[in-house]
Amino acid sequence: MDTNRPVVLVDDELLDDILKLAAAAGCAVERIPDAAAVRPHWTAAPLVILDARGIRDCRDLGLPRRDSVVVVCAEPPPTELLRDALALGAMKVVELPDEESWLVGVLADVAEAPAGSTGRVLAVLGGRGGAGASVFAAAVGLTALRNGSNALLVDCDPLSGGLDLVLGAESEEGLRWPDMRLRAGRVPVSALHAALPGRARGAARLTLLSGAREGIGPEPDAVAAVLDAGRRAGETVICDLPRELGDATGAALDRTDLAVIVVPAEVRASVGAKLVARRLTERGLAPRLIVRGPAPGGLRAEEVADAAGIPLLAVMRPEPFLAQSLDRGQFRPRPRGPLTAAARATLRALDTESTLDRRSTG
Ligand SMILES: Nc1ncnc2c1ncn2[C@@H]1O[C@H](COP(=O)(O)OP(=O)(O)OP(=O)(O)O)[C@@H](O)[C@H]1O
Ligand SMILES: [Mg+2]
Repeated sequence: MDTNRPVVLVDDELLDDILKLAAAAGCAVERIPDAAAVRPHWTAAPLVILDARGIRDCRDLGLPRRDSVVVVCAEPPPTELLRDALALGAMKVVELPDEESWLVGVLADVAEAPAGSTGRVLAVLGGRGGAGASVFAAAVGLTALRNGSNALLVDCDPLSGGLDLVLGAESEEGLRWPDMRLRAGRVPVSALHAALPGRARGAARLTLLSGAREGIGPEPDAVAAVLDAGRRAGETVICDLPRELGDATGAALDRTDLAVIVVPAEVRASVGAKLVARRLTERGLAPRLIVRGPAPGGLRAEEVADAAGIPLLAVMRPEPFLAQSLDRGQFRPRPRGPLTAAARATLRALDTESTLDRRSTG
C-alpha cells in the first residue's frame, strides 16, 4: 500500500474527472472500491476524496474525523451532504467542474510534498526597531534558495517598508498581502507560487509574500493558511514578525518551530530583546539570539546574550556595503559573508531543533 497517495472513493460518474485532475496535478491517486477498503488508508493517506455516497458510507462505518478530507459533487451540495461532510471534518465540499482548479492545487500540493517530511517555520523578530530582522529574514530565504531548497518568505509586519523592497522586488508583478483574499482554510502552495513574486535558482524557488506599504496587516486566518501551505509542501517558511504580538503574529508563532531575535550589540537593545523573548517564552517558544555588530561600546556577543538571557545562536559582523546594495535594490548576501554564515547556522538549527516537537512531546 502506498501511503503517500491520496485515496479516492467516488462513483464512476465523477471518477473520470478526478483522474484527469490528478493527472493534471502530476499526482498519483489510489482508487478505492468501497468504504470498507478505505479503512486501512484512513489515518495515513495524505488526502481522502469522497463523493456523497462515499462520505455517507465512511460515516456509517464509524470512521473518525480526520484532516484533509475533500468531498466532491457535480451539483450544488444538498444540506444532508454538508452535514455528513462536517461530521467527518471535511475541509471543503468541491463542486465540479466549477472548483476544479482548487482541487488540482490541493493534489499538486500532495504530489510536491517530499515524502514523510513537513516544512519548518522560522520566526524572525528584532530586539529593537531597526535591529536588522527584515534583512536577516531575507538573507535566510536567499540562503535556503542557494542551498536548493524551496522557501516561502512571509512579511507579517504591517508597518515595515515591505520585504519586496529588501529583495529589490517592489516593482515585480504578483500579489501582496492586501491583494490576498484568503479566508480560513486551505490554500495550495502551487497557487502561492503562481500568484506571488519570487526568485528561482534551478528547480528551487523562493516565494515572497510582502506587505504593500498600505492597508492593515494580514488577518490571522490568512497567515495560518499561508504558513500551513508552505509547511505541507515541505518548504522552509520564514516569517518576518513585528515585535508587537497581535493576533496575526500569534497565528505565526503557533506554527513556529524556531524563533530568533536579531539584536545589535548594544545594552539598550539587549534589554528590548529580553522583553521580546519573555513574550515568546510565554507562548511556549525557546528563542535564540543573533547578535549583530558593530559593537560601538565594545560589548561582546556573549555579554549581550547574558544581558538578554537568551542563548546565543550566531554572531554577525556588519555586512559590507549593505546599505548601498539595499538602496539599489540589489541585496544579495555575500556567499562567504557574515549574513550568510548566520543564516546557515539558523537553517541548521531549524532543521535539528523543533519547538513543535518539544511541544508535542510535552
Ligand atoms: N547585517 C547587517 N549588517 C549591516 N547593517 C545592517 C544589517 N542588517 C541591517 N542593517 C542596517 O539596519 C537597517 C535596518 O534593517 P532592517 O530593516 O532589517 O531592521 P528591522 O529590525 O527589520 O527594522 P524594523 O524595526 O523597521 O522592522 C538596514 O537598512 C541596514 O542599514
Ligand atoms: Mg523589519
